[in-house]
Amino acid sequence: MNSKVYQSDFLVIGSGIAGLSFAIKASEFGTVHLVTKKKDSDSNTNYAQGGIASVLSPDDSIESHIADTLKTGVGLCNEDAVRFIVAEGPSRIFELSEWGTKFSMRKDLTGKEVFDLGREGGHSKNRIVHAQDLTGQELERALLEKISNLNNIIIFEDHTAVDLLTEHQLGLNNKNAQKTCYGAYIMENSTGDIHSFIAPVTMLATGGVGQIYQHTTNPDIATGDGIAMAYRAGALIADMEFIQFHPTSLYCEGSSGRSFLISEAVRGEGAILTTISGKRFMEGVHPMKELAPRDIVARTIDSELKKSGAKYVLLDISFKREAFLRNRFPAIFQKCLDEGIDISKEPIPVVPAAHYLCGGVITDRFGRSSIKNLFVSGESACTGVHGANRLASNSLLEGIVFSHSAIEYLRSHSGMIKAKKTMPKFPLWNKEGTFDLEEWILIQHNKEDVKRLMWDYVGIVRTNLRLQRAQRRIKFLAEEIYDYYRRSTLTLELVELRNLVTAAGLIIEGALHRKESRGLHYNTDFPETKEQYCANIILRTESSPLLKKHREIDIIW
Ligand code: FAD
Ligand code: SIN
Repeated sequence: MNSKVYQSDFLVIGSGIAGLSFAIKASEFGTVHLVTKKKDSDSNTNYAQGGIASVLSPDDSIESHIADTLKTGVGLCNEDAVRFIVAEGPSRIFELSEWGTKFSMRKDLTGKEVFDLGREGGHSKNRIVHAQDLTGQELERALLEKISNLNNIIIFEDHTAVDLLTEHQLGLNNKNAQKTCYGAYIMENSTGDIHSFIAPVTMLATGGVGQIYQHTTNPDIATGDGIAMAYRAGALIADMEFIQFHPTSLYCEGSSGRSFLISEAVRGEGAILTTISGKRFMEGVHPMKELAPRDIVARTIDSELKKSGAKYVLLDISFKREAFLRNRFPAIFQKCLDEGIDISKEPIPVVPAAHYLCGGVITDRFGRSSIKNLFVSGESACTGVHGANRLASNSLLEGIVFSHSAIEYLRSHSGMIKAKKTMPKFPLWNKEGTFDLEEWILIQHNKEDVKRLMWDYVGIVRTNLRLQRAQRRIKFLAEEIYDYYRRSTLTLELVELRNLVTAAGLIIEGALHRKESRGLHYNTDFPETKEQYCANIILRTESSPLLKKHREIDIIW
């Protein structure tokens, strides 16, 4: 193995909105190594359709966005965190525009160019800034283009973070002392070589966990790597039971790949949901009907499918003109056409799919985790903004705001960056194993087993029995997978599988400890929402879960 040591002022892991925006700002203070496990734009960010929620219209207000976010989060949001991101939103949107992001614009009554603001579930106003239905692709383009003009940033594509570097690798294991992060072991995918990337500041921005589920809107990269790495290193993790299922992904017979999303913005433009026999089923369920918060719409669809035995429900926007639909939703229009559906003439068959993780590594107002010098931003973080359910289009906002506030913290603590000179000397990666082709097939099967298990037992509607079974089976699978991990030479697939099963275990653990139903976590054995459970389930290695308010934990470090 040809292991090298790379040293920089900042190590950024992940090239979605959280990682890229942090890197741009960090480059003002020093050198940045940004590693990403596939190509630079491979991320959940790249697939975002609806847009970014922010208060940008005169008939909207900060208080209204805050109220919608808190209501959707069912009592579990950290109100300070919500107030913070909502207030910061407009500045960050203008900054993205200045950096070259081309959002969709329109002319107001006076002829002035203004943001064309869309509407999504749970929002009482139009406040979604977007770039047609290709918002994420446009964001990635603009951020990567900006980075290409900055000398201080080196992007390492096809490089996978395997584990964080803490005192553990130095053989110092004082369980009671707060750990410090010094960078990460990073695998060069093409050779399997594992290098030490050392930096006084590490930003973990590895995104979500959608690939844990059989049906997901998330691309291949979303395997929970950052959360699993941080958990192994001893960071506090919370709210893992709150998995958001998007109500409307395109139903394709026999398809096994990523589920194509039909943006909530389509319902924001008036689309209605019906059963295959044409009954409009959201009326009477929630006053906002099709624009009710996502947990409610997804659960209602799930229940309609179970009642009728149908494979999908229908989403109808065909009353809108073709020219409008082609311009507002070019990607959705074309994808549906490729599948033989003309959305200007017929309804779209849709089903729910795993979409977003509300929980993750606990962070504070500045993106700091419970491990010193380890910042976390974006979908991997649990900032307290989403509580038990995320309001639509609040996640891109959360990523860009907390990456910014991490920089603001570092601006006033520049001594942290200077600490580079006194970094400890870490041992080079020394794990050796042998690759066994026969076992490789088992690895593939294990991945499918995890995905099916999570879909069937830890999905939209949960029961105690299913969760307990899931826990027993995931423990068994985890043992097998950790054993391959120890004995084999590393590949991207094996690194991901180890993280996938760890994150799946954390989701089950969180779900089993929540003895109520709240937001995205619905357990038919505990159908009520209970006041004593209005707290976060916090997980950490070598301890049983804690039930505590995230805010109290913020104060602890
Ligand atoms: P990501 O964008 O997922 O980026 C993570 C990065 O980390 C990737 O580059 C990945 O390759 C890298 N990575 C992962 N593991 C490793 C590792 N071990 N080593 C190195 N690199 C690693 N949210 C909204 O607010 N509005 C929307 O309209 C919207 N639409 C969505 C549509 C779809 C189809 C999906 C899937 C999500 C949508 N979301 C939306 C959610 C939102 O896109 C994500 O929550 C957000 O983009 C997450 O950004 P991030 O930077 O945290 O992570
Ligand atoms: C969508 O466009 O429906 C996705 C928005 C989100 O996930 O916030």
